[in-house]
Amino acid sequence: MPAASPVADSPLIVALDTADAAQASGWATSLMPHAGLFKLGLEFFLAHGAAGVRGVTGTPVFLDLKLHDIPNTVAGGVRAVLPLRPRMLTIHAAGGSAMIQAAAQAAQAAGSARPLILAVTVLTSLDQAALHAIGVDASPAEQVLRLARLAVAAGADGLVCSPHEAAVLRQALGGDVTLVVPGIRPAGAAAGDQARTMTPREAMQAGADWIVVGRPITAAPDPAAAAAAIVASLR
Ligand code: C5P
Repeated sequence: MPAASPVADSPLIVALDTADAAQASGWATSLMPHAGLFKLGLEFFLAHGAAGVRGVTGTPVFLDLKLHDIPNTVAGGVRAVLPLRPRMLTIHAAGGSAMIQAAAQAAQAAGSARPLILAVTVLTSLDQAALHAIGVDASPAEQVLRLARLAVAAGADGLVCSPHEAAVLRQALGGDVTLVVPGIRPAGAAAGDQARTMTPREAMQAGADWIVVGRPITAAPDPAAAAAAIVASLR
């Protein structure tokens, strides 16, 4: 029996952060009525590969692989995952203009099923001192904006950004750029290792097209109820 699709009009992306395929499948099945999309990251992909992705939902997913290599290799990586029909795929903007162009061009091979190529700018784990140590003297905010402009100019469809960057990026880059925003915590939820969060509603108001939520849903006693409450909070 083909799996049902996540609901089309929900801006909620649930991060299925696990290396346990059965757990990912279970979450996907119970969250399908609430999520617009499921995000599978490196942890899952390195453990289970393409077959694992197919096994989880049978539906398009957001593959958060943060590709970063020479243009030819990144283009090959994009082509290699196109048969999975991901709706979104991440690359590192720091790979530079030619790499981003190569990724965007490679995605065209999928025609109308082309995944959105989303660029990651500055990892939120990097503060000013960490950037300085790798030779970047700009502030994190300046570097985010610089890389975001470069990525969009090179053909990226959108960006993954923190909720606190969303308004500035929306204003700088206009309405056509897709902003996908993690670092979301429903009011009253534990922040965990996320330092500067917004509620789902605040993030959407700041300009997010999609919000990415992991543990507040997957670690909840009733994940489906937690997801439903988040979607309801957006209405
Ligand atoms: O569990 P939590 O809601 O914090 O999960 C957020 C998801 O978004 C994780 O998959 C995490 O890797 C991802 N992410 C993030 N911050 C970024 C980029 C991605 O939390 N800056």
